[in-house]
Amino acid sequence: MLQQLPEPLVIAHRGASGYRPEHTLASYRLAIALGADYIEPDLVSTRDGVLVARHENEISRTTDVAGRGEFANRMTTKLVDGRDRSGWFTEDFTLAELKTLRAVERLPELRPRNTRYDGRYDVPTFDEILRLVEEESVRLDRSVGVYPETKHPSYFAELGLALEEPLLSSLSRHGLDGPSSPVFIQSFEPGNLQWLRPRTRLPLVQLVCDTGRVDLVTSTGLRRVATYADAVGVAKGLVIPLHPDTGTIGDASSVVADAHAVGLRVHVWTLRDENHYLPNGYRRGTDPAATGDSIEEAQAFLDAGVDGIFTDHPDTTLEARRLHTSGIRTHATT
Ligand code: G3P
Ligand code: CA
Repeated sequence: MLQQLPEPLVIAHRGASGYRPEHTLASYRLAIALGADYIEPDLVSTRDGVLVARHENEISRTTDVAGRGEFANRMTTKLVDGRDRSGWFTEDFTLAELKTLRAVERLPELRPRNTRYDGRYDVPTFDEILRLVEEESVRLDRSVGVYPETKHPSYFAELGLALEEPLLSSLSRHGLDGPSSPVFIQSFEPGNLQWLRPRTRLPLVQLVCDTGRVDLVTSTGLRRVATYADAVGVAKGLVIPLHPDTGTIGDASSVVADAHAVGLRVHVWTLRDENHYLPNGYRRGTDPAATGDSIEEAQAFLDAGVDGIFTDHPDTTLEARRLHTSGIRTHATT
């Protein structure tokens, strides 16, 4: 059973990552303050089996590890999900060691304002995030949801650091394991979700990337997904492809209708304010870091009938939802 929260949901992707270094308590706290319905931690494991929030297990782009002499000899190259990755990996650090690192902005060229927060925040554990959610829900007297993603689950399982049991244990410890708990669990790996299905009543979300398992969003694929998941979390181009010639937004695909026909919700990722991420037609000026007409882009996805939107800028998407639910269709006047 899905939770009774306002829909379409606004899901703060890696927190309010347009405004703070991603996957920090500051980023999640700001997302909640801005009014996001859910915050989204991506989860990986430390050497001692603690779940922490990072988008990938290689952490040189999102922490100061590369400048930390005491860890210089931890730099290595590994095969992760079929690709060689060089850098520093969470599974080579104990939680105590990882806690000495500080988060940095992943996208300093696009988000230079966020670099003033570099060095200020540590890497949060999943338990710390759940405590924050609990505290803020009480303080604000509203339900704040959490939308964890298991990252590289097969890879971590092969290391003896499977993510699934610690994930379910943490959620259970925090009382977030009931059918109406405001939680979605997401993964790109069907096997991971199929393992979880008989072990949790929480809704599961099959992620689909536009360069990955697109067979999962055909009508046949969606029927299969509906046997173990409650929603699909799809790259935005799968819902509204761009015109190949112009790069402008095109007509909506049948993914939303096909998913709804088999009882699956559709959550789309990822909307961002910067021109760099916007289709032609919604960009303003030529600076990739400048803010474009992201409200209009969000409106297009709301018009397409999605049930949730992952966003780096929750305030923008919340405003688009407010306009949408008020029946107001706006157009930029630039
Ligand atoms: O989880 C939805 C979306 O976040 C998947 O993309 O790469 O940002 O985790 P990613
Ligand atoms: Ca994610």
